[in-house]
Amino acid sequence: MVKVTFKDNSGNPITTIDANNDEPLSTQGQAAGAAVPVACGVGACRMCVGKCTRGAEHLDQNAHGEKHISTEEDEFLTCICGVKEDAPDDAEVEIELENL
Ligand code: FES
Repeated sequence: MVKVTFKDNSGNPITTIDANNDEPLSTQGQAAGAAVPVACGVGACRMCVGKCTRGAEHLDQNAHGEKHISTEEDEFLTCICGVKEDAPDDAEVEIELENL
């Protein structure tokens, strides 16, 4: 499990989840009650994008699909990205959602 904190675009924490690598981060965040914005759901728009401000090395951008648009190095499409299978149990990740 990796601790993933979703923040709004002002950097305010919204929710923290214990993320697994079974589902995209947006799905896990929504299941925990965070209003993670998703539109296409397949890595082809920017609705779900988040800037990773901590722990990017524990994320796999293409864990649950292929990215169809370009993003900055510190940006992740949460509808397709997930945590790496080999991430340590005490890993912590913070993501600022652009559209929240
Ligand atoms: S919702 Fe479109 S890229 Fe994630």
